[in-house]
Amino acid sequence: MTEPKKPAEFFNPSQEILIDANLKDYAATYDRSIKDREGFWAEEAAHLDWFKPWDKVLDDSQKPFYKWFTGGKINIVHNAVDRHVKTWKRNKLALIWEGEPGDSKTYSYHALNREVCKFAAVLKSMGVKKGEIVTIYMPQIPELAIAMLACAKIGAAHSVVYGGFSFEALGSRIADAKSRVVLTADGGYRRGKVIDLKGIVNEALKQAPTVEVCITVKRTGHAVVMESDRDYWLHDLMSLPLTNFACETEVMDAEDPLFILYTSGTTGSPKGLVHTHGGYGVYTASTLRNVFDLKERDRYWCTADPGWITGHSYLVYGPLINGATVMMYEGAPNHPYPNRWWQMIEKYGITILYTSPTAIRGLMRFGEQWPARHNLSELRLLGSVGEPINPEAWRWYHRVIGGGRCPIMDTWWQTETGGFVITPLPTTPLKPGSATKPYFGHEVGIVDDQGKDLPAGQEGNLVLKAPWPGMARTILGDPDRYKQVYWSQYEKQGWYKAGDSARCDADGYYWIIGRTDDVIKVAGHRLGTAEIESALVSHPDVAEAAVVGIPHEVKGNAIYAFVILKAKKVGSPELAAALIEHVSKHLGAIAKPEKVEFPEILPKTRSGKIMRRVLKAKLMGQDVGDVSTLEE
Ligand code: WTA
Repeated sequence: MTEPKKPAEFFNPSQEILIDANLKDYAATYDRSIKDREGFWAEEAAHLDWFKPWDKVLDDSQKPFYKWFTGGKINIVHNAVDRHVKTWKRNKLALIWEGEPGDSKTYSYHALNREVCKFAAVLKSMGVKKGEIVTIYMPQIPELAIAMLACAKIGAAHSVVYGGFSFEALGSRIADAKSRVVLTADGGYRRGKVIDLKGIVNEALKQAPTVEVCITVKRTGHAVVMESDRDYWLHDLMSLPLTNFACETEVMDAEDPLFILYTSGTTGSPKGLVHTHGGYGVYTASTLRNVFDLKERDRYWCTADPGWITGHSYLVYGPLINGATVMMYEGAPNHPYPNRWWQMIEKYGITILYTSPTAIRGLMRFGEQWPARHNLSELRLLGSVGEPINPEAWRWYHRVIGGGRCPIMDTWWQTETGGFVITPLPTTPLKPGSATKPYFGHEVGIVDDQGKDLPAGQEGNLVLKAPWPGMARTILGDPDRYKQVYWSQYEKQGWYKAGDSARCDADGYYWIIGRTDDVIKVAGHRLGTAEIESALVSHPDVAEAAVVGIPHEVKGNAIYAFVILKAKKVGSPELAAALIEHVSKHLGAIAKPEKVEFPEILPKTRSGKIMRRVLKAKLMGQDVGDVSTLEE
């Protein structure tokens, strides 16, 4: 994002922030957290309940495979649910949910615990064991969060696949995780239409032979194909005369896997990042509590889908560990009208809103009259995540939605980091478009390819110079790849390479520019060129494909595809449309190319690697740069 022209523009936070006194002095707390990193994290970890305290805060004996809170026994669900039920919080709202058609449900912590116990008992009755990976593919309904918690409660790891992905993406993820059990729903609502999720699951299961059991939540009630011996309705299983639904929370090692989340990487197929009960729990709870200044009075709404990391960390685990009231909404922001979100903020008295720049830009286009119809005065803090927020959208969000009084927490982080890394606190003076400063315990660097620190203002690779409890521990089944992707370039220094380019200004504020690898952030969703290309190549007419991300006014980036057809096939607008539809059907509508072109050849290096950089530069009318490695 472009830095605002001089003079440096600071938005000072409003006085209404209730932030804990000890955090008011960011610099002092930050210094302490760096000088005594383990001491800082031990204090943060003490906010959680442990069955048995840890022996060691950080075990760095096998870098880069760091371990946190080793010897500690914990379960994240004990912290997110069980412990609250023993206090006055049993009567507090844990979850406020609204479906797209307008139906709504609320759960107190007592009710949430009951539902989690029931779901967990059902999973146990279907033979789910500690340590196995259960795949979850659901719309944004309460059962999605309940299913995640139910798995964690009994010590199974969940792998949530975003409901906007289609059968190829789902099938390959189930197969990689070797799931025996899949949890889904018959469908969900999106822009007034029913999305046939069970149909997609049935298709995906053809590629996933390990699946023995599929449990389906009835949401839409449309006709679906259920296979006997494999498919069960959740409500049927819940009505079976199980002796009782009391279900103990499993005692886990701090380092036991909590979940796998697939994310697109530099090359090849999506990788399953592994997060843990202990460190991840401590990290999400700490970052959310401090950055969003959570208080009992708050009603906090994170608009992310639990299918992405933001939903895991800041819709489910972070808020519940903090005993917060969290809001979840099923559908599209502009359905049936562009005031849908603003109407819900008023209706439920939301005080904190955490969303993406794409959503803001999309809603901004409809004009100020839509939010103006609603009383948004309960809002006190706003958040942004997933992609750089351009200063224009930032200002609109601040002025129109935040009434000029709500600071915006522009949080930079990744699936790999588990939670916020570069982020303001509510007391940080803000610059529109900058994620500001590192969270406690983090040392961030902007370095060149060799690892030399770059001076203020210069763009370079973003690295994290020290480990943190929320870090992904490995890639499922492929530790070498974990080491190679994140830790090999700066192996000597022991730094984590984020895959983003950024710069730091003279005030020590960080400005994220974007990915430096083959990841494309489309509408804040993380997609890999490889997966889109392989969807294209699965079409019978396609020989080869290359995709690139091109700047897009609302979505941040749009996908452009270059396709080489098989012999005797001819490119046409009809074929381009068919290919777009093919990607949508196989991979998901979010991965749809905006445009498909049929060039004669693709630019490649002599070793046969497609030079996407050249394609992108050509599309954008820029200099193609150094092409000395280009094959004739
Ligand atoms: C980008 C999402 C600028 C970045 C939580 C990162 C951002 C990638 C921001 C990770 C932000 C995330 N400003 N860019 N505030 N937040 N990004 O894994 O490119 O889906 O590397 O995690 O999103 O995407 P992921």
